[in-house]
Amino acid sequence: TLGSSVMSALRSNSVSSCPVLTTFQKECSTPTPYLRNVADAIADDMRTGLAVQGGRDLEMILTYVDVLPSGKEEGLFYALDLGGTNFRVHSVQLGGMKERVIATKSETISIPQELKTGTSEELFGFIASKLANFVANENIPDRFRLEQGRKREIGFTFSFPVHQTSIDSGTVIRWTKGFKVSGMEGKNVVACLNEAMEEHGLNMRVSALVNDAVGTLAGARYLDEDVMMGVILGTGTNACYVDQKNAIPKLQSISSSSSGTTIINTEWGGFSKILPRTIFDQEMDEASVNRCEHLYEKMISGMYLGEIGRRVLLQMCETSHLFGQSVPVNLSTGFALSTKDLCKMQEDKTDDLLIVGSILNKVLEVEANLEVRMRVAEVCDTVVKRAGRLAGAGIVAIMEKIEKDTKRLSSGQRTVVAIDGALYEYNPRFRQYMQDAVVELLGDKLASHIEIKHTKDVSGIGAALLAATNSIY
Ligand code: GLC
Repeated sequence: TLGSSVMSALRSNSVSSCPVLTTFQKECSTPTPYLRNVADAIADDMRTGLAVQGGRDLEMILTYVDVLPSGKEEGLFYALDLGGTNFRVHSVQLGGMKERVIATKSETISIPQELKTGTSEELFGFIASKLANFVANENIPDRFRLEQGRKREIGFTFSFPVHQTSIDSGTVIRWTKGFKVSGMEGKNVVACLNEAMEEHGLNMRVSALVNDAVGTLAGARYLDEDVMMGVILGTGTNACYVDQKNAIPKLQSISSSSSGTTIINTEWGGFSKILPRTIFDQEMDEASVNRCEHLYEKMISGMYLGEIGRRVLLQMCETSHLFGQSVPVNLSTGFALSTKDLCKMQEDKTDDLLIVGSILNKVLEVEANLEVRMRVAEVCDTVVKRAGRLAGAGIVAIMEKIEKDTKRLSSGQRTVVAIDGALYEYNPRFRQYMQDAVVELLGDKLASHIEIKHTKDVSGIGAALLAATNSIY
């Protein structure tokens, strides 16, 4: 939170008022009753998404992950992870019940910007070539040598909304997070990868196509049986959870077995109702490659928070000369302020807001006095607080659904939410705001049985485990 002398200066109004900031703060505020309405609206959308297939704000995607890893999985499996800032390859050696995860190896490769909006051949060709390099450098222990006639199996984490038709096939519903790859309309994502792998001479096949939230849930569940929800708070945001099959109306028409559980990928980023949208959110959305889509994600996730802050600061410059008479050049450049820097400024606990000062200096090349630094910190805090609280409302909506069907919380059963993503990992204030919202909405008693756990990088292991669980051999 802001340093105490800064807070008292703000309270005593020594920072002269700035209409843009005041309006922004007012429009972003999310008092408890309002957040309750948000959680209820998300719950409504979840119900609709579970009743009918497709075309809804919350897709509530059937993942075909009905069997979670048991611990018995054995063998060498790979995982590919596409959909964030980076692309990742993992190999995971599984040793069964006794040895569990014997070894993992991974490589992170940044995705050239042009591939995000290029053709599917270019993107999948790039992925297959990086995978081929990785595999060529592997040192495989004898016990994991490939038997004749078999292929290596891969869990493919593809973190976009996909209409899945089975555990190893699906088509992209829409692109998010700045990606817009052409030539994939109606095409099976797995087939795209399989073709590219074949072209690169790789003897591999995809046996599980999973979302990153699903990979996180599966990986976390392998280590902790009380995990019921997987959440991503990174470049994008999403959540999935374990649902009872008989509570999913749209499943009844396509599956004969309606007992047991399955994972639902909510694609909650698509939520759009009663959100506290400001002019800055609207203008950022207008300039995005996926206009009018994934509005909840655009208020919460790492790809967008810095940009919202930049837009507010720009307007403050133009109307109240925040940084003097001229507007710093970088402030007029889209995405010049990263979410990482916005969060660092928000977290600045030094009395004189020295960190805010140095970031402004580095990013915008301006010298800002204390009063200006205070205002900037307020902007950052407003953006982060709204994001954290909105994410908290989403968690509550899902938790209440789980509670309705299982009564876990009221019977005192520990229930774990596994979270991954840089936004969550690096920002304690974001985490606190989110946690506060969960407690406010659920009440101390129920919330005391929820454990929100940071499960770093488990989605790779999760995807490899799901590849093992769904192996055709
Ligand atoms: C976006 C994608 C979703 C993914 C999330 C986090 O919201 O649509 O599939 O899980 O980002 O990466």
